[in-house]
Amino acid sequence: MGSMQDIKILAIESSCDETAAAVVVGGRDVRSNIISSQVDIHTLYGGVVPEIASRKHIERINQVIVQALQEAGMALDDMDAVAVTYGPGLVGALLVGVAEAKAIAFAKKLPLIGVHHIEGHISANYIENKELEPPFLCLVVSGGHTHLVKVQDYGVYEVIGRTRDDAAGEAFDKVARAVGLGYPGGPKIEKAARTGNPDAVLFPRAKVSGSAYDFSFSGLKSAVLNYLNGCKMKNQPVVQEDIAASFQKAVVSVLVDNAMRAVEQFHVDKFAIAGGVASNAVLTSSMEAACLERSIRFFHPSPIFCTDNAAMIGSAAYYAYLSGKRDNWTLNAVPNLVLGNIPK
Ligand code: KG4
Ligand code: ZN
Repeated sequence: MGSMQDIKILAIESSCDETAAAVVVGGRDVRSNIISSQVDIHTLYGGVVPEIASRKHIERINQVIVQALQEAGMALDDMDAVAVTYGPGLVGALLVGVAEAKAIAFAKKLPLIGVHHIEGHISANYIENKELEPPFLCLVVSGGHTHLVKVQDYGVYEVIGRTRDDAAGEAFDKVARAVGLGYPGGPKIEKAARTGNPDAVLFPRAKVSGSAYDFSFSGLKSAVLNYLNGCKMKNQPVVQEDIAASFQKAVVSVLVDNAMRAVEQFHVDKFAIAGGVASNAVLTSSMEAACLERSIRFFHPSPIFCTDNAAMIGSAAYYAYLSGKRDNWTLNAVPNLVLGNIPK
C-alpha cells in the first residue's frame, strides 16, 4: 500500500434504479464511473417498480463492476477497500449491492465500508472541486430527499432543515405526470420550461410554520393539479411549457430563499448543492447568482455526479476509511437510515 492519497476504493451503488460501480483513488480522483440506468423499463410503469429494480440490479451488477475495473485499468487485487451504499433506499435494491460488496470484500480480504446515500450525494462535490473542504452548508435535493445540511467535518453532519412532505424531485416527477410529460419528471420539466413563460401562472411558495429551514412541496403540487382541473372545467387549453416553467420557478425560488436564509443565519462562506435536482440548470444558475450577491462561494457537481452514481460513494468512503470506519459481515441494508440528527 502506498500513501493515503493512493487509497483505491471500489464503490457500489444500487439504492434505487441505477446499478453503478466506480473506482476512486484518494477520494477525489475518479478513474471510472459506470452507471447502468433502468429508466427505460420503469418508464413503462410511470415510476420505479421496486421488485423490477432489485431483479435488474442482480442481472447487471457483476458486469457493471467488471466494466468499472476495466475502465480504470485495475483489478480487484489493486483495491484497498470496497464501499457500498447501505441506505436509505429500496430495501431489495440496496441488498443486492450490500451482498455483492460483502462477497468481494470477503473473497479478497478487503475492508468493507458502508456509506449513507445522502453522504454520497454531498461528497459528489469533492470530485470536481478539489479545494472544497468542510465546513460548508449543502442543500441535498433528490427524488427521495430534501435536506439542508451543515457539513461540519468529513462524516459529521447536522440536518437543519428537511421536507415535511414530498421531496423536491418527487414534486417534479408528480407534476410532470399530471401535465402529461411522463417519467422521469425532472429533466422533462426542465426541457419543456425552456420554451415556457415562468410568469404565466403564479403558484404558491410554501412557508412552513415552526421551522425556518423546513420545506413543503405538497401544496405546490396540489396547486398545479387544481390549475389543471380549472383549465379542463373552463375548456381552456393546457400549455405544458408554461406550467412547467411556472412550477419550476416556484420550486427554485423556495429552495433559494430557504438556503440563503440559512447561509446568512449561520455565516457560512461556502454553499453547495447535491442530488438529482441539482442537475437542473435553472436551479444552479439561481443559486449561483444568490451566492454571488452575498460573496459566498458556490459549488455544484456536474449533472452526471448529481444523479445516482457510485463515484460519489467512493468519495465519501475514502474519508470514512481515513477516520478508521470499517464494517463487518453483519452490514445490512437499512431502508430508512438517518443522517446526523434528524430521521429521513
Ligand atoms: O439523486 P437521484 O438520482 O435519486 C435519488 O436519490 O432520489 O434523484 C432523482 C430525482 C428525480 O426525482 C428526478 O426527477 C430529479 O432527481 N431530477 C431533476 C432533474 N434531473 C433529475 N429534477 C429537476 N431538474 C432536472 N434536470
Ligand atoms: Zn440519490
